[in-house]
Amino acid sequence: MKFLVTPSLLLSLAVASPLQPRQAVKLEARAHTVPIASESASSHKWPEVSASSFPIHESCNASQTIALEKGLADTIKLAHSAQAHLLRWGSNSPQVQAYFGNGTTATPIGWYQRVIAATRGDMLFRCDDPDQNCATQSGWAGHWRGSNATQETVICPLSFARRQPLENLCLNGYTVAASPLNTYWAVDLLHRLFHIPAIAEEFVEHYAEDYEEVLELAETNSTWSGFDSDALQYFAIDVYAYDVAAPGVGCTGGEPEHNHAHVAPSASQTATENAVSSTAAIVRPPSATPSSTTLVTTTAIAVSSTAAAGLAPSPTASIGCSPHGDHWHCEGPAPTSA
Ligand SMILES: *[C@@H]1O[C@H](CO)[C@@H](O)[C@H](O)[C@H]1NC(C)=O
Ligand SMILES: *[C@@H]1O[C@H](CO)[C@@H](O)[C@H](O)[C@H]1NC(C)=O
Ligand SMILES: *[C@@H]1O[C@H](CO)[C@@H](O)[C@H](O)[C@H]1NC(C)=O
Ligand SMILES: *[C@@H]1O[C@H](CO)[C@@H](O)[C@H](O)[C@H]1NC(C)=O
Repeated sequence: MKFLVTPSLLLSLAVASPLQPRQAVKLEARAHTVPIASESASSHKWPEVSASSFPIHESCNASQTIALEKGLADTIKLAHSAQAHLLRWGSNSPQVQAYFGNGTTATPIGWYQRVIAATRGDMLFRCDDPDQNCATQSGWAGHWRGSNATQETVICPLSFARRQPLENLCLNGYTVAASPLNTYWAVDLLHRLFHIPAIAEEFVEHYAEDYEEVLELAETNSTWSGFDSDALQYFAIDVYAYDVAAPGVGCTGGEPEHNHAHVAPSASQTATENAVSSTAAIVRPPSATPSSTTLVTTTAIAVSSTAAAGLAPSPTASIGCSPHGDHWHCEGPAPTSA
């Protein structure tokens, strides 16, 4: 810990008059914390800006900024609802079991909280095309700038044409299991945020490839589920659908090619081991109190990806990485020493 915030420090921040705040803060800070070299006390203050707003570059015009801010606000709503579900139901929730297995809920709770409130630092969403990927990569709706600017995300024009608001959740035949994961701005931007070190600290990676692999990871290797980008995205949209958008119903959809031992059949369904299930794959809690979800108004960030190319270097915090589209899939976190 770099410094301790004591009640008296907070008090001094609060009462200091404009004429003498620096001195007061400096004295208090010295009295209660590790000595501060010759630095100005301002570097030890809480950030003044709201941590929940995401920086959007001036290259996004007025319309794009509005769309992006709305998408990022959706992402915060999604993270809040996912976190509320984890806190309310813990591992008793069938969705929690399905996506995170018997792993600790503290891990996903922590990632959603970092999306909601971690200091944004140098992160940036931009709408120009500095790496020329929007112009040259067919189908790209955005990309993480990787080694060119590790905290930056480019949103290509395609995102503004394709991504949908959360209000459209469960409409138009959408199901969590079968529709593209990046259908909604909220999920697409959540994915992009998990590539940004300021949010995900280079710990969230792609361990599972698709919906089925996410469920399989939770069954067989759940320690990793809490660090899997797709598990965090699928869980968030599935519980938002069930808790908020279509309370008690959701739109999980079936898993056509894969049966999972933990998946209970619906009452009217006699499931054999290899039967194709076209009904909800996950048994829901009796009532998931949508009102427990706190909705936050904020601005945020967005990202999208489709094809592959021009890739940043393999993440150093992970091992066994191979390129996957515009990002890396890794086998696991690199061992940490000391
Ligand atoms: C913003 O840019 C997009 C894409 O170039 C364009 O379609 C839109 O009309 C622009 N909006 C404004 C307000 O300039
Ligand atoms: C969690 O599940 C895995 C896979 O089924 C199992 O190997 C492990 O022992 C379980 N851990 C706990 C603490 O139950
Ligand atoms: C980084 O910039 C170079 C040169 O402009 C470009 O070729 C490469 O694709 C960029 N990387 C990413 C991840 O966009
Ligand atoms: C669990 O997943 C990690 C990350 O993909 C992998 O390195 C590890 O080998 C897996 N362990 C098992 C028992 O499957």
